Amino acid sequence: SDDPLVLGIETSCDETGVGIVRGGTLLADAIASSLEEHARFGGVVPEVASRAHLEAMVPSLERACAEAGVRLADVDAVAVTSGPGLAGALLVGVAAAKALAIGLGRPLYGVNHLAAHVAVDTLEHGPLPEPCVSLLVSGGHSSLLLVEDVTGTVDPLGSTIDDAAGEAFDKVARLLGLPFPGGPYVDREAKAGDPAYVVFPRGLTGQRDLARHRFDFSFSGLKTAVARWVETREQQGQPVPVADVAASFQEAVCDVLTRKAVDACRTRGVDDLLIGGGVAANSRLRAMAEERCSAAGIRLRVPRPKLCTDNGAMVAALGAQMLARGRTPSSLDLVADSSLPV
Ligand code: KG4
Ligand code: ZN
Repeated sequence: SDDPLVLGIETSCDETGVGIVRGGTLLADAIASSLEEHARFGGVVPEVASRAHLEAMVPSLERACAEAGVRLADVDAVAVTSGPGLAGALLVGVAAAKALAIGLGRPLYGVNHLAAHVAVDTLEHGPLPEPCVSLLVSGGHSSLLLVEDVTGTVDPLGSTIDDAAGEAFDKVARLLGLPFPGGPYVDREAKAGDPAYVVFPRGLTGQRDLARHRFDFSFSGLKTAVARWVETREQQGQPVPVADVAASFQEAVCDVLTRKAVDACRTRGVDDLLIGGGVAANSRLRAMAEERCSAAGIRLRVPRPKLCTDNGAMVAALGAQMLARGRTPSSLDLVADSSLPV
């Protein structure tokens, strides 16, 4: 087709992603992860992540081009995550994207990581319904956004005031003796557990909290409640029912996330909800969101798990939208901004 070929680079956390899209079609999605190098620290170590990006960048570019069957010289525009994320990690991607844009003589588009998590859905379900509400839940962020125009007008409705949802999954997994990153393991364990075994707290859902934090989240109290519960059991010399605790914890997280997302759609008169970020892979979150959206007459879009986690395809997808909507490219002075707002 004649649609422009857009290359996207993502390095905001531990994934080096290079994606290539043409129009709304995904041609390549090369990912290298430094997750294993961080596992023994129980979390992502920024210095380790930056070095890994540097090592993985050129091989990832080569793999993406091979997968797409294109040459770098065919690329019409280069998009890159300029924030938010780890400063040193972002720098590697931004520097690589600038070098490519200069070398190829093509426009550069610095994009927001959160908006890219929304835009990626175009690769699976076609043009975005705008406005839509987006629930983004990962290890680094948990926010509700009102998306008027994914290439520019995105309104943050609320976000976590402490831990991100994925972070809570990872910490609780650790408490339960499950490997890092724990989200998928909690999900798996929970399938055999009773979600009503323990009723854990639903953060920021009380009347008083709702007045100030209607669309905000809090998961650190929940994590502490699980820790106390497990400790008490151990002190009593009783075994910890891992599956039941996992299911009960997961139920509390998913209840709050879906409740607030549906409330945001209703309050803003929006009929479409999009869920993204690594935690969107959670089977209970998907099922509960489907149930509650269908009851509320809201259409739900959740990209396939591989597109939900950090990758270069999401950046390329947003770059393609920016090009299609005639947005002004970034200047070559583009800087990485670790706390870039949407
Ligand atoms: O988007 P992502 O790959 O990276 C960022 O954090 O930006 O998300 C990773 C997070 C981790 O916290 C991981 O435990 C969580 O997503 N996660 C899950 C599941 N799969 C991944 N959490 C719950 N259930 C899952 N099935
Ligand atoms: Zn992310």
